[in-house]
Amino acid sequence: MRGKVGLLVCVWFLLWRPSAGRFKVEKNSLKITTPDSLKGVYGSAIGNFGVPQYGGSMVGTVIYPKTNQKACKSFEDFDVSFKTKPGGLPFFLLADRGDCFFTLKAWNAQNGGAAAILVLDDQAEPLITMDTPKEENAGADYIQKITIPSALITKNLGDCIKKALSSGEMVTVSLDWTEALPHPDERVEYEFWTNSNDECGPKCESQIEFVKKFKGAAQILEQKGYTQFTPHYITWYCPEAFILSKQCKSQCINHGRYCAPDPEQDFSKGYDGKDVVIQNLRQICFHKVANESGKPWLWWDYVTDFAIRCPMKAKKYTKECADQVIQSLGVDQKKIDECMGDPDADADNPVLKAEQDTQIGKGSRGDVTILPTLVINNGQYRGKLDKGAVLKAICAGFQETTEPAICLTSDMETNECLENNGGCWKDKSFNITACKDTFRGRVCECPVVEGVKLTGDGYTHCEALGAVPCGVNNGGCWKETRNGKTYSACLDDHTKGCTCPPGFTGDGVKSCEDVDECKEKKACQCPECKCENTWGSYDCSCSNGLLFLQEHDACIRQEYRSSPGWSFFWIIILGLGVAGLGGYSLYKYRIRVKPPHIPQTCACLLLHLRKSKLFSPEGTLINDPYAFF
Ligand SMILES: *[C@@H]1O[C@H](CO)[C@@H](O)[C@H](O)[C@H]1NC(C)=O
Ligand SMILES: *[C@@H]1O[C@H](CO)[C@@H](O)[C@H](O)[C@H]1NC(C)=O
Repeated sequence: MRGKVGLLVCVWFLLWRPSAGRFKVEKNSLKITTPDSLKGVYGSAIGNFGVPQYGGSMVGTVIYPKTNQKACKSFEDFDVSFKTKPGGLPFFLLADRGDCFFTLKAWNAQNGGAAAILVLDDQAEPLITMDTPKEENAGADYIQKITIPSALITKNLGDCIKKALSSGEMVTVSLDWTEALPHPDERVEYEFWTNSNDECGPKCESQIEFVKKFKGAAQILEQKGYTQFTPHYITWYCPEAFILSKQCKSQCINHGRYCAPDPEQDFSKGYDGKDVVIQNLRQICFHKVANESGKPWLWWDYVTDFAIRCPMKAKKYTKECADQVIQSLGVDQKKIDECMGDPDADADNPVLKAEQDTQIGKGSRGDVTILPTLVINNGQYRGKLDKGAVLKAICAGFQETTEPAICLTSDMETNECLENNGGCWKDKSFNITACKDTFRGRVCECPVVEGVKLTGDGYTHCEALGAVPCGVNNGGCWKETRNGKTYSACLDDHTKGCTCPPGFTGDGVKSCEDVDECKEKKACQCPECKCENTWGSYDCSCSNGLLFLQEHDACIRQEYRSSPGWSFFWIIILGLGVAGLGGYSLYKYRIRVKPPHIPQTCACLLLHLRKSKLFSPEGTLINDPYAFF
């Protein structure tokens, strides 16, 4: 068993490892000031223990011990001390990686009097984070007492330092943590000014394209509390003198207070400006209501789904269509209607009034007049409206090295399908859904069932063309349940169509009728037999204390019964014996064959991997690649 788990973990680790360079490793800079040949700034990775001097720096000279070079033993045993005399530069101990935990090296260095430890990687690879061992029995007491900073340096740099030291040079190093602040516990706030209008040509298309592409990242950031996002919508008001004009009546709601231009710039056809204002208002209210229920990120789903499902072109830019989308996302539609108020009222709408007030510039951003406008941390974003560029701008709002993982990775998935199927189509009785989690958020795409690709919009319906798998709508065949018994006319090989199961007759599609085996004299016909029809089958009993034997459709004397009963019992015993033997030989086989295939390094690592913090409970990557020794 252990061998099997080990192999699995090992394979997983090996597959995963090549991508390690993409994940965040908290880095600080290491500056060498002497000798001249090594002068320069180098990267190093802060260990996940000890006390890094956040915001500060420290200068020292590097010392590489003649013995105990891996610092796995106490330096007291070797009568070596790295304590500096008053006024002297502190010593940074250079230690080789390997043989023991990083934490033990740091502990020994600290006890030996070193001011910091530089661990030199033993293989050429990107920097990794040195972590504390998670094993309970690792003698973890001392780990809490480590106070010196530690940093991992590359093999290449370490070899250069060693060379300089061996030729008698003094290597002076400055460790700098000014850029490596802990997570400041701050959010990036951003707003996006947009429009639900989808008929304004390339401009509208680029907005909805952006929302679709950015959705996944936006939702992850919001769910993890890294950002607070607010959508906004621009409206104009109708000048006093024109409130009763045809133009204002078709473009405005609330008696000229909130207007949007006609989508086609033609008052006589298609949708009017006021339809756009109302849909915009619905999107604001959707965000408000979703936010109140703690899921503001659903706005991204609503807006993309609405654009896909309710386009103006298909004449679906309506309340009915919007409500369907709202329902599919499980948001309270009544609350949204309440929030929207009465568009015909000659009164302010508090929601749109607030939007108009927000339109006016404040701080470092001017009035919002251009659509779309993206505002990040109150500054106007002036880049391209594409996912990569915007994500970069948002990520820049965090202190360097404290960005969320998404700022550094490109393949995180959302887990939206777990809830409510992400609002996508679902076949309730067969537990299949059109919801698919991807990095760009979830998509509603009809699935492949039993090798058959279903077709449909992915939201309200998915259907199979041609032979329908039994997994969908029971393959279009008859199916019925009575008293806890279910019969289906969809057989595994249903390419030939639906077939009523034994005991039934009919076309198999609309109906299968129970066959009355008693009336039709199909069974239970012996002289002592008493036949009673049931749904899908029949019951047969015998008179004179005889027993009915189904296989022979006959009544027999009771003594005979014990014989088949016992043989059945012995068959079970024999079966168990065979299964046990099989299991044992499988076990033997694994013990004998598997272990030699596990590389030694993997075997060691797997002791700790499962307890490392690579995955959050939801299964998304949240942390760096770690190593413990
Ligand atoms: C969303 O909710 C949070 C807290 O519940 C609140 O601080 C924030 O102002 C709300 N945002 C909007 C746009 O209503
Ligand atoms: C439905 O399928 C999903 C994924 O295949 C599974 O995780 C879930 O437990 C299933 N639910 C039920 C009720 O069978």
